[in-house]
Amino acid sequence: MTNKLKYFIANWKMFGDLKSINILNRVNTFLIKNLKYSKNTNVIFCVPHTLIYFLANTFKKKSLLIGTQNCHSNRTDGSYTGSINAKMIKNSGAKYIILGHSENRREGETNKIIRQKIDSALNQKLKIILCIGESLREKKSKKTFSIIKKQIKDSLSKKFKLNNIILAYEPIWSIGTGRVPKSNELQKTLKFIKENFRKLFKTRNFPKVLYGGSVSPKNVISFSRINEIDGFLIGKDSRSSKKFIDIIKNYYK
Ligand code: PGA
Repeated sequence: MTNKLKYFIANWKMFGDLKSINILNRVNTFLIKNLKYSKNTNVIFCVPHTLIYFLANTFKKKSLLIGTQNCHSNRTDGSYTGSINAKMIKNSGAKYIILGHSENRREGETNKIIRQKIDSALNQKLKIILCIGESLREKKSKKTFSIIKKQIKDSLSKKFKLNNIILAYEPIWSIGTGRVPKSNELQKTLKFIKENFRKLFKTRNFPKVLYGGSVSPKNVISFSRINEIDGFLIGKDSRSSKKFIDIIKNYYK
């Protein structure tokens, strides 16, 4: 059920300017100099749309890849002021896209809209990082599994190229709060996600599932004991090269 190759994915949210290239330069140098980490990791920086082209061009053929966050659901160009579609994103040089983040679900994004976005992004051969997870209220009323199950079922389709989809379990109550799930609970949930996905879509392989929510250099040590984790989606601590590098180092300690 485990994959050897681990993902360390930065979710920069609404952060970053041209000077942010320094963060990527330092991470890139670290990976080049430390083969023992780079050979086991897939490092992806999901940056705002404004930085895709610049960073994707600078880091062509380097040890890290550029992705982004969110897109409009429409496959083609159209009258959607302020929006960007998957075709434009692909054209700018991104390889990955985060979709279904709770911060966008909070703004009204439904599983149906997410499914349309995934469809259009897959059509552009982008790899998807699909965020799923329950709120604190749902957790307290023991609805975690049913919420996750519905998010997976309603935002994906058997017709999708499922190998190009990575799931990121991000409990909403963990994002930016410093609170993380207990190891045994997290392990159970990740197992549930993998098994449910395989059963639902009748796939041979288990999907890759990341954990996201307040991942830090300190708490990543405890996550390294959970075999079901295929990597991390890192928000705040991905905006510091030191913290991001320490997360990778500490995971393999
Ligand atoms: P955080 O964000 O690491 O700052 O909690 C994670 C995310 O929202 O993807």
